[in-house]
Amino acid sequence: MQTSGSTKSKLALFGGTPVRGHEKRWPEWPQFDETDKQALLGVLESRRWWDGERVQIFQKEFAALQDAGHCVVCNSGTTALIIALRALGVGPGDEVIVPPYTFVATASAVAWMGAVPVFVDVDETWNLDIDLAEGAVTERTKAIIPVHFGGALCDMDRLNALSEKHGVWIVEDACHAWGAKWKGKGAGALGRCGTFSFQQSKNMTAGEGGAIVTDDEELAVLCRSLVDCGRGTDGIWYNHPRVGTNARLSEFQAALLSAQLLRLEAQNEVRQTNAAILNQGLGRIEGLVAQPRDPRETRPVYHLYCLRVDPARFGCSRQRLIEAADREGLPLSAGYARPLNRQGAFLDGPNRQRYEVSLCPVAEDLCQTSALWLTHPVLLGTPEDMRDIVEIFQKIKAHASELNTGEGER
Ligand SMILES: Cc1ncc(COP(=O)(O)O)c(C=O)c1O
Repeated sequence: MQTSGSTKSKLALFGGTPVRGHEKRWPEWPQFDETDKQALLGVLESRRWWDGERVQIFQKEFAALQDAGHCVVCNSGTTALIIALRALGVGPGDEVIVPPYTFVATASAVAWMGAVPVFVDVDETWNLDIDLAEGAVTERTKAIIPVHFGGALCDMDRLNALSEKHGVWIVEDACHAWGAKWKGKGAGALGRCGTFSFQQSKNMTAGEGGAIVTDDEELAVLCRSLVDCGRGTDGIWYNHPRVGTNARLSEFQAALLSAQLLRLEAQNEVRQTNAAILNQGLGRIEGLVAQPRDPRETRPVYHLYCLRVDPARFGCSRQRLIEAADREGLPLSAGYARPLNRQGAFLDGPNRQRYEVSLCPVAEDLCQTSALWLTHPVLLGTPEDMRDIVEIFQKIKAHASELNTGEGER
C-alpha cells in the first residue's frame, strides 16, 4: 500500500491536521429503522407484553440462524451461561475450564454455581490454548467454556475431540458470534450447547437479552423451565417441579430482536469485507498483527477487529498509539485492563493459588501491552473509512519515535 502525503504531516496530537476531521462520523450503534419501530409498536398495541408469540417466533428464527435444534431465550448472556451450567448439573466440587481473556461473565457464571473456574491461558488466536486446556483437565472437570473471542471461532474440532476423550462438556460462550459458522454449522450448536448475548454493544441487540442454543431437546426443555420459574411442561401454571428463576425475555425484546435479525447478515458481510481491507492495509505495517482467523470458519463474523501491537517493533507504546489515534479521529480501545485470573472476584477463597499471574502470560501481555480493539460499529463504515484507518496507523507509525521522546508535545 502506498503511503499517503498525510503520513509526512504532523501528528494531530502535536497540532497537525487529523486524518479524519470532525465532519467525518463513524456509524452509530445501535441501528434501527421503521421495521424496529413498527415491531415495538405492534407489541405495545397488542397488550401482550410477555409470554406471547414474539418470543416463540424469535426462538425459532435464532435457532435456524445458528443451525441449532433449539433456542431458549433469557434476559442476558450472563444468565444464559448460568442457566446452561445449572441445566448440566455443574455445582460445588466441580471445575470448569475458562480462558482469562474474556468478559467476567464467562468465569463468574461458574463461580455463581459454586464451582471453580480454572483459568487456562489463551494462545496467539486470542482464544483458549487447547493443549493447556487438556493438561488442566482433572477428574473434577465437568465442562470447558471456550469463548469465540471477537467472533473468531475456536478450533471446535479439537475441542469436541477433547470433550469425547475426557468426558467433559463443551459450553460455547458464543456471545460474540451471532451468525458465525464453523465448517457449515452455526456457532453455539457445535458443542453441547452455546450461549449468546443481545446486550446493547452486541451485533444484534434489544438493550439486554440472551439465548442458549443446543441440539439436545431434553437440555433445551430443562433450560426453558429454569428460565421460567421451574415450571413443568404439563401446562399447569402453578406447577413447579424444580427450582428455577424468572429470567424470561419480554415480547418487546423478542420483537426488536426479530427486527434486528433482518439486517444482521448484511451487516456481518459489510464487517467482513471491511475487515479484509484492514487486513490488507494493516498487515504491511511492522509491529501490528491482526487476530488470526481459522480457514474452517465458513462464515466469519466480527464483533471486534483485534490487533496486537509489538511496541518495540511498532516504535511506541500502546498507550501513546491510542492517544495519537484518538486525535487523528480513530476510537481505539486497549480492551480488558487485567485478565480474569487477577480480578478480585476470583482471588478470594481457597482457589487463590490457582490464579497466579504467571499462569496466563499471553492474556497478561494482551491486557498490559499489546491488545487493540476496533469495535464492530466502526467496521460498518465505508471502504473509504477503512482506508482512513490504515492511513492513521501508517501516519502514527511514521511518527512513532516522536511519541516516545515527547518531541513536539503540548
Ligand atoms: C464473551 C462474553 N460472554 C458473556 C457476556 C455476558 O453477556 P451479558 O452482558 O448479556 O450478560 C459478554 C458480554 O459482554 C461477553 O462479551
